[in-house]
Amino acid sequence: MRMVDIITKKRDGLELAEEEIRWFVNAYSNGDVPDYQASAFAMAVYFQGMTQDEAAALTYAMAESGDQLDLSEIEGIKVDKHSTGGVGDKTTLILGPIVAALDIPVAKMSGRGLGHTGGTIDKLESFQGFQTEIEQDEFIRLVNENKLAVAGQSGNLTPADKKLYALRDVTATVNSIPLIASSVMSKKIAAGADAIVLDVKTGSGAFMAELEEAKDLARAMVEIGNSLNRKTMAVISNMDQPLGRFVGNALEVKEAIETLQGNGPQDLHELSLTLASHMAVLGGKASDEKEGRALVEKVMQDNAALEKMKQFVQSQGGDPAAVDHPSLLSTAEQQTDVLAADSGYIAAIHAAQIGKAAMMLGAGRATKDDIIDHAVGIELKAKIGDYVEKGEPLAVLHANQKDTKHIEEMILQAYSTSKEKVEKPELIFAAI
Ligand code: URA
Repeated sequence: MRMVDIITKKRDGLELAEEEIRWFVNAYSNGDVPDYQASAFAMAVYFQGMTQDEAAALTYAMAESGDQLDLSEIEGIKVDKHSTGGVGDKTTLILGPIVAALDIPVAKMSGRGLGHTGGTIDKLESFQGFQTEIEQDEFIRLVNENKLAVAGQSGNLTPADKKLYALRDVTATVNSIPLIASSVMSKKIAAGADAIVLDVKTGSGAFMAELEEAKDLARAMVEIGNSLNRKTMAVISNMDQPLGRFVGNALEVKEAIETLQGNGPQDLHELSLTLASHMAVLGGKASDEKEGRALVEKVMQDNAALEKMKQFVQSQGGDPAAVDHPSLLSTAEQQTDVLAADSGYIAAIHAAQIGKAAMMLGAGRATKDDIIDHAVGIELKAKIGDYVEKGEPLAVLHANQKDTKHIEEMILQAYSTSKEKVEKPELIFAAI
């Protein structure tokens, strides 16, 4: 085969055969196809799109390009969850124990945070001693024993996607629905799940700012998953502002524990319950979302989910006492109020800006080698639709550095207020 023929076919809007896509992925991974031809291919896909069969073939070929987790020794339907990314999104810390308490195995590979979004691994490492570098045998043993384990991503998962994504990043071809969908789904398929619940974010803080685009992306991912025999569904949720009230690792862990105890903020509680209910359905424990929700509420009310959290933390070397006593988690030396400059209703909170401010406090990484400070972060005292008087706190900085003036300024800029009443935004737009 010749790459130029494949590019020509795609450029002219013709459908590629599975073998052609597989050939491209292998040849590009091996270095036999140069970056300039792969760029031309990505641009052709950007303009011409892909059929469902093409996107599924690309996904599968990328999933097969590196290690694939064999989770066949884990009993039951392994259900995974993936979010397209957001600020303050700690739902995995809540869903994992809930779903495991329903006896559904959750074998989760998670990433670290980079830039303005946080990573589940960093959050979990707020528990002193928590280990996420786990050998595959041990990972499988932990899931069979506790129904829940979270490991850091293996070095050689989907190398073809890694290479293509880096190229797309510098050739203006990231924002293509089939390319995003196949990139995300290739990682999920390689990570070995039987069923996948996707949380596709929309709004100012999301990759897909427009609802219709988010729906198209969700449909593309659901079709890919189902065509590769993974039961897949997607929830479209709002990321017009950070989720919950806290951004920062230990602060988010504390908020997740409060949510498991039934005392979490409304948006985080609702999204976590919705995603967990869908996971209960895909995991074969409920016939519909309503039945799933009843099961989820039960394991929250009878503390089974909270007990599961303790068992999970202990099993990976962390201190389970911190689940009962979150004050054992590290706290920042200094708390500084960021005060409203005007009275009014909160109209918008720029999520990425809040994430960036948290990163500058030390909660996230500007480069992948930065060391993070688990204690620091931001508490949002006011969310969209709340009324604040001038001089009331909009947010609280939890900091371990003396001079935070520039970060306070960033937070003030992230907030917009209005004299007119502002309704609280809708949280969940659709299930696909
Ligand atoms: N996240 C991914 O993993 N891949 C994309 O293409 C975009 C976002």
